[in-house]
Amino acid sequence: MFDPLEKLKEYIRCQSVSADSSFGAGMTQARDFVSGLLGGIGLDVEVIDTPLHPIILAKRGGDPSWPHVVIYGHYDVQPPDPVDLWTTPPFEPTERDGRLYGRGAADNKGPFMVHVAAVGSLLEEHPDLPLRITFLVEGEEEIGSPSLEGFLSACKDCIAGDFVLLSDTASPSEDQIVITSGLRGIITLEAELIGASGDFHSGMHGGAFLNPIQALTGLCASLHHEDGRVNIDGFYDDIVEVAPWEREELSRLGTTEEEYREFVGVRKFKTLNDVSPFEGIRFYPTLEFNGIGGGYQGEGSKTVIPSSAFVKISCRLVANQDTDRIEKLVIAALRDRCPDDVTLTVKPGQKGDPYLVVPPGRPNTPSDQSPVLARAFESTIESVTRVFGRPPLFLREGGSVPIIADLHRALGMDSIMLGLCLPEDRLHAPNESLHLGVMKKAIPVSRDILKSVAGV
Ligand code: BES
Ligand code: MN
Repeated sequence: MFDPLEKLKEYIRCQSVSADSSFGAGMTQARDFVSGLLGGIGLDVEVIDTPLHPIILAKRGGDPSWPHVVIYGHYDVQPPDPVDLWTTPPFEPTERDGRLYGRGAADNKGPFMVHVAAVGSLLEEHPDLPLRITFLVEGEEEIGSPSLEGFLSACKDCIAGDFVLLSDTASPSEDQIVITSGLRGIITLEAELIGASGDFHSGMHGGAFLNPIQALTGLCASLHHEDGRVNIDGFYDDIVEVAPWEREELSRLGTTEEEYREFVGVRKFKTLNDVSPFEGIRFYPTLEFNGIGGGYQGEGSKTVIPSSAFVKISCRLVANQDTDRIEKLVIAALRDRCPDDVTLTVKPGQKGDPYLVVPPGRPNTPSDQSPVLARAFESTIESVTRVFGRPPLFLREGGSVPIIADLHRALGMDSIMLGLCLPEDRLHAPNESLHLGVMKKAIPVSRDILKSVAGV
């Protein structure tokens, strides 16, 4: 068997930033790396072209009566910027204090490596393991998986399995593991306002027409009420009710509000209806501004009325909300409220549906839940409890992994999401790292899940 840590270091060296086309060579390198790795543990690897970044499928076939697990991961990472805030370079994996630093170490290269190492060692030990396995590794997760829908409709049969196993979500601490029971959906968009035909001297022209930054800030301000609620009629319709067991699990999070407040460094929380911040993240939708710009950004002042201004907006959505409907509502609010002095263009971006799975034995567990999935959940609970010393919590997460809802919609497959990232891992930020103790412990957990599904 290969050494998972050494392989992970090699993987992190591939600069696989999907958002930026100048990283094309790194994307190819990461793809070749994953193909080689999965081929090396005896799987049949196929690289499937898409309009953007190819998808890797690696299979262990077998008797159609055997259970079939699909293991998901993504080989793309977020851009490393701002690079000068990294202590060591983002694509030079570096070990410090039990952590491995590097872009993608936690999201998603390390947690993915856990499952590859588990399958590799399991197949070595049990060459006749009665289990079909398909690895599905995409290269567009961090940009909203635009090629996935086409892939799924063309290739349903080649990945239809009993359930999906992945680690692309978080846990609150190294000894409190979470099995993620829900993900928020997402829509992103960019709005641009154009006023005058060019930039103009703010003394010669100021006072004559509306400044697009002023129009934009007014427009943005209109999107929330004073108390923080999104000010768009119908935005909160349809949101799924929180089950009592979910609140009970959340009460065992092990992190206090004060600890979390200090961690993020804010003065106070602002949540919908004053719910706890932990509920605000998991159970309710948001509308956020992710970037805003226009006019002079350099040193000193520049007396100018800019021609244009822009804002990048995203909404996180919870189960039952209709992604398309919310996108329409937000765009309509922008159009209705934008002063007609300026021209508004809205560019829709990513879209991903929310997802919810109810583990076995809850009051709202679907009566037709697959027995293979139920068995896999039970063995995950059992193994996490033994290896990490405490039973896992089932919690929804605030983040999004759009493919998970797509797989459910297209193929009826539910997901077991073993959360292996920690709050300290700094996903998407400078100095991203992975807790190596968590990685090491998670490998036998993944093995236990696969063994129990195979019935050995
Ligand atoms: N792994 C994350 C999502 C995540 C992180 C879920 C922590 C739960 C806990 C994933 O790679 C990610 O960042 N997804 C993006 C999706 C977007 C770009 C469409 C996200 O959530 O912002
Ligand atoms: Mn990820």
